[in-house]
Amino acid sequence: MTPVEANSVRDLLTFYVESGVDVALDEAPANRFADQLAPAPATDPGAAAAVRPLPELRPAAPAAVAAPPPPLPEEAIMAARAAARSAASLDALREIMAAFEGCALRTTAKQLVFGDGNPKARLMFVGEAPGSEEDQKGIPFVGRSGQLLDRMLGAIGIARSDVYIANIVPWRPPGNRDPSIHETQICLPFIQRQIELVGPQVLVCLGKPSTATLLGVTDGIRRTRGRWFTYRSEAQEIRAMPTYHPAYLLRTPIEKRLAWRDFLAIKKALAG
Ligand code: URA
Repeated sequence: MTPVEANSVRDLLTFYVESGVDVALDEAPANRFADQLAPAPATDPGAAAAVRPLPELRPAAPAAVAAPPPPLPEEAIMAARAAARSAASLDALREIMAAFEGCALRTTAKQLVFGDGNPKARLMFVGEAPGSEEDQKGIPFVGRSGQLLDRMLGAIGIARSDVYIANIVPWRPPGNRDPSIHETQICLPFIQRQIELVGPQVLVCLGKPSTATLLGVTDGIRRTRGRWFTYRSEAQEIRAMPTYHPAYLLRTPIEKRLAWRDFLAIKKALAG
């Protein structure tokens, strides 16, 4: 195998592992019992026909109980609403979400990525969904995007520990695919309750999916970024601004100058 081929095999295996594959299977089914019955090596001519003994039979394990089918999206959305409403604090909400079985993403993700930062923050950021590093650590925005977000905050004199950060979808979608509409709608009551419990003065939607989901504005992020909207919850109205997602800024650094303007406007709104 050439070094180039070896690299692509490694990349493919890395992709499988990150997508949740943890067992390798052959392409063709293999009869492992036949190996047990194969004639023993003929060291003794008289024993040529000897057959390896079968392993001691153990009582069969009780048949696995089939997992119940995942709830229909409508049922899952209703269940999420009721569960989210019942949370009286962020800690309670975290526990409720960790036990919630209505979103299939939890089965492929390593863990819930709830939220991070000051639970009484005046400034809250909401991204789309955790990536691989967030999934490993259980903390939002700790990968390259998160490090850029920290630097952007630092540039306006705000520490990460002063703000609160969360995502629309709190479980990593396999292979970093976009969350589906159903997954987003199922998780929506949770992020809405999280925003309500933090009660920030300013809410920043990072990227289009967060903007569309929380503010109902479906225009492209180039049109919405830097503009003020109102996020309405049952408890309060919050000034909300969409801005570029840091992952986009990593790919398109020229747009950082516009994000800088947005961050200055955010700083001014917090001072006012
Ligand atoms: N991108 C997101 O939208 N959220 C994270 O937590 C990390 C990357």
